[in-house]
Amino acid sequence: TTGPLRDRHGRVARDLRVSLTDRCNLRCHYCMPPEGLPWLASDDVLSDAEVVRLIEVAVRDLGVHEVRFTGGEPLLRKGLEDVVAAVSRLRTDGGDPVRTSLTTNGIGLERRAPALAAAGLTRVNVSLDTLRADRFAGITRRDRHADVLAGLAAATAAGLAPVKVNAVLLRGTNDDEAADLLRWALEAGYRLRFIEQMPLDPHGTWDRAQMVTAEEVLAALQEEFTLVPRPGTARGSAPAETWDVLDAAGGRRGDVGIIASVTRPFCGDCDRTRLTADGQVRTCLFSTSETDLRTALRGGADDATLAATWRAAMWGKLPGHDIDDPGFLHPTRPMSAIGG
Ligand code: GTP
Ligand code: 5AD
Ligand code: SF4
Repeated sequence: TTGPLRDRHGRVARDLRVSLTDRCNLRCHYCMPPEGLPWLASDDVLSDAEVVRLIEVAVRDLGVHEVRFTGGEPLLRKGLEDVVAAVSRLRTDGGDPVRTSLTTNGIGLERRAPALAAAGLTRVNVSLDTLRADRFAGITRRDRHADVLAGLAAATAAGLAPVKVNAVLLRGTNDDEAADLLRWALEAGYRLRFIEQMPLDPHGTWDRAQMVTAEEVLAALQEEFTLVPRPGTARGSAPAETWDVLDAAGGRRGDVGIIASVTRPFCGDCDRTRLTADGQVRTCLFSTSETDLRTALRGGADDATLAATWRAAMWGKLPGHDIDDPGFLHPTRPMSAIGG
């Protein structure tokens, strides 16, 4: 009843992903309908102080080492800088500062990157599926391509390195851009990762046959680039597999990652636990149940009780996501409410 977040399959969760809001200022086709989704009631969303309290429990009592803030779009949280500052002051059980990072669509990052870096944020991952402004407006239903590029540049300037870029390729929309995106990322110094689309859309329209696979992305890149699997290839618990990109002389130009959640699941090495914006613990992106910490927190539960509840939830984490099983159940919430 003490110690870290273990599950019955031998995994230990050291990496906490915290969704700070289910709202977003884009409307990516694969994520949200044009009108948005039924948002969480503001009373149900944890306050900054409540989020920080639960993260403190995770770090002090449950052995969490790294905290990533997600959404929806986490930059929509006004208090983000304060939350980052409070969490960045915490120490892991090894005595090191907790590493904090952000996964964002990049809108507003241009203005806020300096304050986030000053608050102790170490890294950002920015989502960008296309280099073409017209396609961006088509995919996201908002004409904000330039804001994302400005956000990326500001993140680099603020020292939030390495800046990673997440791209989802969609068949018939931007699946001809793999090489263009990599050329651009190498030039700008961003670490690009391609992500296989997962069945996490709200309308359940995901189609395995339509998904652009890791194998296809790799084949497209290899037409132009020389790729070698990163030496000492152990991916560990990171979801991306990484390739070094070599130049004609065999020198290293940079790297590229592929997150093949569907065709090459990495659940066996998963080291994640999740907290939603309304204070529910999820053991997995694909969980079909959650554990309510908000009610306990607001009812006055002490740290030990909150920690024990979280530990008990994680013990029941399932071995994997079973996306390819005929009986696969779509999670009860969309990705935007879970935190990617
Ligand atoms: P790094 O620490 O920078 O490697 O971050 P990350 O790649 O773990 O995080 P990011 O938020 O950038 O996520 C990139 C993609 O990985 C997103 O599409 C996520 O949905 C996906 N992803 C994140 N966590 C998980 C997970 O636990 N399981 C699966 N299957 N995919 C995940
Ligand atoms: N499958 C894979 N990635 C997704 N993202 C959003 N929805 C999905 C999905 N169904 C991506 C976003 C962003 C990252 C956080 O998750 O494009 O890059
Ligand atoms: Fe872990 Fe679940 Fe993600 Fe698999 S799908 S890697 S078990 S969080």
